[in-house]
Amino acid sequence: MSREPKPTIVGGGIAGLTTALCLAPLPVRLLVRTPLGAEGSSLWAQGGIAAAVGPDDAPTRHAEDTIAVGGGLCDPAVVHRITAEAPWAVEQLAAWGVPFDRDAGGRLALGLEGGHGRRRIVHARGDATGQTIMETLVSRVLAEPAIEWIEGAEAIGLVEDEIGLCGVDCRIGEKRVRFPARAIVLATGGVGGLFEQTTNPVTARGQGLVLALAAGAELVDLEFIQYHPTALAIGRQPLPLISEAVRGEGACLVDERGERFAAGLPGAELASRDRVAHAIWQHREAGHQVFLDARRRPGQFFAERFPKIHAICRSYGLDPAVDLLPVTPAVHYHMGGIAVDGDGRSSLPGLWAVGEVASTGLHGANRLASNSLLEAVVCARAAAGSIRASGPFLPPRGKAPPGTGCEPHWGGLPAILSRCLGVVRDRESLERGLDQVGVAAGGSAGGAEAHLAWLWIRAALWREESRGAHYRSDRPETQASWARHLRQDRSQAFLPAAPTPV
Ligand code: SIN
Repeated sequence: MSREPKPTIVGGGIAGLTTALCLAPLPVRLLVRTPLGAEGSSLWAQGGIAAAVGPDDAPTRHAEDTIAVGGGLCDPAVVHRITAEAPWAVEQLAAWGVPFDRDAGGRLALGLEGGHGRRRIVHARGDATGQTIMETLVSRVLAEPAIEWIEGAEAIGLVEDEIGLCGVDCRIGEKRVRFPARAIVLATGGVGGLFEQTTNPVTARGQGLVLALAAGAELVDLEFIQYHPTALAIGRQPLPLISEAVRGEGACLVDERGERFAAGLPGAELASRDRVAHAIWQHREAGHQVFLDARRRPGQFFAERFPKIHAICRSYGLDPAVDLLPVTPAVHYHMGGIAVDGDGRSSLPGLWAVGEVASTGLHGANRLASNSLLEAVVCARAAAGSIRASGPFLPPRGKAPPGTGCEPHWGGLPAILSRCLGVVRDRESLERGLDQVGVAAGGSAGGAEAHLAWLWIRAALWREESRGAHYRSDRPETQASWARHLRQDRSQAFLPAAPTPV
């Protein structure tokens, strides 16, 4: 375990591993909580990577679809840049060895998902895209001498000296270890573990947001949480995902009477995720049961096209070619995050963020399906370029105090957040949640997670409208005057004033 200052990446999913590979041959350190490749949302990604590589497609069309579902909050420059680089991302991954699925003529096989105007999702081994990419990246990392990886390292704080950020404090087993670094990349993934129903690993508890917040970086658009419409409703955490690609292959949503209640949405079951999730929520509130019906299409072809999902369903005694699949919306992705520029740079010099923990402006208020792996790969390269240009990486000065950030997790938080930050929110439940979190944050129960939660609920209260994934039943209209972002930082924690719109 080296102690020299070098760029240090926290997180070993697709974003973290790609950043490391793009930084090499510059010496780089990777801090991961589990054995390399053993944990994280990336492994579970079924959907694929959206890229305009088909003969009937163009990056500008991909950009238009991204902006159309983003609820008016996408940054068009970011969208155009990332969608233009999508074909590169697929080529680069293929060059590293990812065996993308191809048709009989050797061309990339393209799938369809909600909100996309044409088939443009590339997959690897059907619905095992994330796992397949991870296997390839892990084998590349293991073969790259410039990358040092440290397993079992839980980042608990970012450290500062008089120059700026200078290291990451980690817990490794019982020990506390400091890794010197002037360039730190947070690639810690999402937040689903802070909710009662999620498709994410339950260990995804917004660690990067907590670390960044404690260190003084700005967070943006926290209120936008994407609920995936079709998690398998098995009644325990985490919920297995039934990929949107299944609806792309013709499966539809029905209730206990067999009625296709979402058929009236624009795009029907392939409307944007916020709309489909909302339709399911409403239908369940009205007392109905909701199922995904894949019996006719993809039908017998299900097991071959979606082997992982098929195996999951079978493990719960369900055969998708024969049975209706009970589904429910569940927290899947956070559009908000650490505010970063096009190169992944946060507002705090020396701190970058890549992947779900970052908010680049690509997704706006609602993410287009399969744009997240794309963003992770494209932004990893951009962040690596900007880190390389930011050296030299000086050693820390003096003895910096311990970094603050992730403290023991607060077990009470998922119940509170699930009640107030659901598919549908309202002032009353948000205010109740804010009070509960405020009490915990003021005492010792909640710790750093409670500070994050307070800002989060505050953001949802402040946005007195409905937009994208943020639906307020007491404010159901979208207001042109709210077409703006909300940035928050630690200086606003527990202040009654409205945070800063930008
Ligand atoms: C899915 O396969 O439905 C999920 C893909 C994504 O989250 O983009």
